[in-house]
Amino acid sequence: MLLKELSSLASPLSQGQVDKLKQLTSELSAVQLAWVSGYLAATANAGQLAPVADAQTAQTVTILYGSQTGNGRGIAKALADKAQAQGYAVNLASMGEYNVRQLKQETVLLLVVSTHGEGEAPDDAIELHKFLASKRAPKLDNLHYSVLALGDSSYEFFCQTGKDFNARLAALGAKSLLPLIECDVDYEAAAGQWHADVLEAVKPLIQTSSASVVSIGTAKVSAESEFTKQNPYSAEVLVSQKITGRGSDRDVRHVEIDLGDSGLSYQAGDALGVWFSNDEALVGEILTALSLSADEQVVVGAEPLTLKQALVDKKELTQLYPGLVKAWAELSGNEVLLALSEDKEQVRQFILKHQLADLITLYPLATPVTLNATKLLELLRPLTPRLYSIASSQSEVETEVHLTVALVEDERHGAARFGGASHFLASAQEGTQVKVYVESNKHFRLPENPETPVIMIGPGTGVAPFRAFMQERVAQGIQGDSWLFFGNPHFEQDFLYQTEWQQYLKNGDLSRIDVAFSRDQAHKIYVQHRIKEQGQALWQWLQNGAHLYICGDAERMAKDVHQALIEVAVEVGGLNSEAAEAYFETLRSDKRYQKDVY
Ligand SMILES: Cc1cc2nc3c(=O)[nH]c(=O)nc-3n(C[C@H](O)[C@H](O)[C@H](O)COP(=O)(O)OP(=O)(O)OC[C@H]3O[C@@H](n4cnc5c(N)ncnc54)[C@H](O)[C@@H]3O)c2cc1C
Ligand SMILES: Cc1cc2nc3c(=O)[nH]c(=O)nc-3n(C[C@H](O)[C@H](O)[C@H](O)COP(=O)(O)O)c2cc1C
Repeated sequence: MLLKELSSLASPLSQGQVDKLKQLTSELSAVQLAWVSGYLAATANAGQLAPVADAQTAQTVTILYGSQTGNGRGIAKALADKAQAQGYAVNLASMGEYNVRQLKQETVLLLVVSTHGEGEAPDDAIELHKFLASKRAPKLDNLHYSVLALGDSSYEFFCQTGKDFNARLAALGAKSLLPLIECDVDYEAAAGQWHADVLEAVKPLIQTSSASVVSIGTAKVSAESEFTKQNPYSAEVLVSQKITGRGSDRDVRHVEIDLGDSGLSYQAGDALGVWFSNDEALVGEILTALSLSADEQVVVGAEPLTLKQALVDKKELTQLYPGLVKAWAELSGNEVLLALSEDKEQVRQFILKHQLADLITLYPLATPVTLNATKLLELLRPLTPRLYSIASSQSEVETEVHLTVALVEDERHGAARFGGASHFLASAQEGTQVKVYVESNKHFRLPENPETPVIMIGPGTGVAPFRAFMQERVAQGIQGDSWLFFGNPHFEQDFLYQTEWQQYLKNGDLSRIDVAFSRDQAHKIYVQHRIKEQGQALWQWLQNGAHLYICGDAERMAKDVHQALIEVAVEVGGLNSEAAEAYFETLRSDKRYQKDVY
C-alpha cells in the first residue's frame, strides 16, 4: 500500500502516527524500506518489537542482479529463496533499483550479472557499473562479496561485465568469498553449485535465526506467473504465415499463439520465451553420419529417453560453441580444425557459419575413432529457449500473443541449414504445441504520459514491438504523436505489416512513417539515412520530450542508428560530439532512449 494512501483508507493508525511514519519512511532508501517492512511484519508476529539494537546489527545478505533477458534475475531469485530458507535476512534487488549510497553499509553482497552488446553491461547494471568504476566509489573494506557472471563463450568479451564488477569490488578493498564464477549459456549446474558454495561461505559471517527478517522487497519480479522458463506453458500455434513476398530473399513469419486459459499476461515491450524441438530430419542426418541408433536408450538428467528424443528435445544442434569445436578437433585429429580451434577469432567466425551436422560432415571421425551416444550427449549443450519481441497487445488480442519471426536459413556445403527455433516456428502447423513463457522487459516501455511523443526505429523484425505499441496506444486512445522508421530490402516484398501502418496513418493513430527500402535503388538506403534526412524534425521531437526506441539488429543497425542520432545532435542541435554522446546518455538514464536489440 502506498503511504500517501494511508490516511485516506480505514487504517488503525491515528493521523499523528501516519505523519510520523511518513516522515520516517521518506528518509529511507528502497532497500531500507523493504527491510523495515519485513522487520515490522516479523516482530508483529512475535507480539513485541525486537530490540532496535538487534535490528540494527542484524546482518543482511544483499543479492543484486543485472539482467537483460531474465536469466540472471532467475538465478538471483532462486538464491534469495534458498538463503531465506536457510534463515538469512535477504535483500533482493535489481541493480537498477539499488541505491548506490547503500553500498558502504553492506557487509555481504552477492552479485549476478550478465553481459550484453559487445561486452557491455545490461541496462539495469549500467549505473552501478559506472559508479563502481568512478572516483565516487567508496572504500569497501567491510564488504564480503561474490560475483556470478553470465555470458556466452561465442562472444569476444565473455562475461566481461561480471569480470569488471569482480575486479572493481576487489580494488575497492572488498573481500572475495569465492573466485569469480563465469557461466556460459548452459549455466544451470554452475549456478546451482554457486548457490550452495556461496551460502556455505557466508555462514561464518552472518548469524541466521528463525526470527531473522527476510525482506525480498524492492525487486518484485514483475508479472509473476506460475509459467516460467523452467515451467513453460504448453500453448497452441494458431497461425504461422509468411509475410514477405514470393520474390523476397527473406522468409519472415507472422506467428499467432493461443495462450488459452493459462492466465499468462504481458505488456507491450515484453518478449516471449519459446522452447522448440529440433528438426527430425536434422537429427536423422546426425545419427546416420555417426552410425548411431535412434532407438538407443539414454538418460538426460534423470529422464530416460531414446537417443532421437534426446536430440530432438534436449540438446542444441543448431548452435555450435567453442568448447565443442575444440572437442571435435581433438576427436577427429584433423590438423586444419585443430589449428582453427586454437584461434579464438577464427572459432567465432566458424561458429557463425557452421552447425554440428557440418562439423561431422567436414571433419569426419577417422576409424577406429567412434562416438557413442553417451559421449555425444556429453559434448552437446542443453537446448535453450529463444526470445522473440512480442508483436501484439493484450488490449487488442486478449489471450493471443503474436510474433514476427525471421527464419534463419543458409545453404552450407550444399545442405540447407536452419536456425532451431525460427525453423520450428516457421514450420508449425495450426495446433502445433509450443512451450512458452513471458519475459518481461521493463526497459522497453511506452511513456507513462500518453501525450509524450514516441519515435520508434524498427527495421526488419525490429518492427515487432512497435506493432504491440501501436495496438496498445489505440486501445488506450492515446493521442500523443508517434513516428515510425521502418526499413527492409524491397518495398514490394518486405514491407512487414504494410496495410496496418497505412491504416494507423489514415486514422491519425500514427503521425509519421519514414521507410528505407535498401535495395530499391542503385545505392543502399537504410533507416539511419532517413534519420539523418529528417534530422531537423527529429531533433525538434526530442526537444519536445519524445521517447526514442530502437529494436532489431544489434550487430550493425543499432550502432549505425546511434551514430546517425549523434550526427543529428551535432549538425542540427549544435552540440560537439562529446556533448552529443552525453545528451543521449542522459536520455538513456531518463528512460527516454530504450533499446531492444539482438
Ligand atoms: C530480446 C530478444 C528479442 C528478439 N526478438 C526477435 C524477433 O522479434 N524476431 C526474430 O526473428 N528474432 C528475434 N530475436 C532473435 C531470436 O531470439 C533468435 O536468436 C533467432 O530467431 C535465431 O534463433 P534460431 O534458433 O532460429 O537460430 P539458432 O539455432 O540460434 O542459430 C542457428 C545458426 O544460425 C546462425 N545465426 C544465428 N542468428 C543468425 C542471424 N540472425 N542471421 C544469420 N545467422 C544466424 C548461428 O551462428 C547458428 O549457426 C530476439 C532475440 C532477443 C535476445
Ligand atoms: C544481444 C546479445 C549480446 C550479448 N553479448 C554478450 C557478450 O558480449 N559477452 C558475453 O559473454 N555474453 C553476451 N551475451 C550472452 C548473455 O550474457 C547471456 O545470454 C546471458 O545468459 C543473459 O543473461 P540475462 O538474461 O540475465 O541478461 C549476449 C546476449 C545477447 C542477446
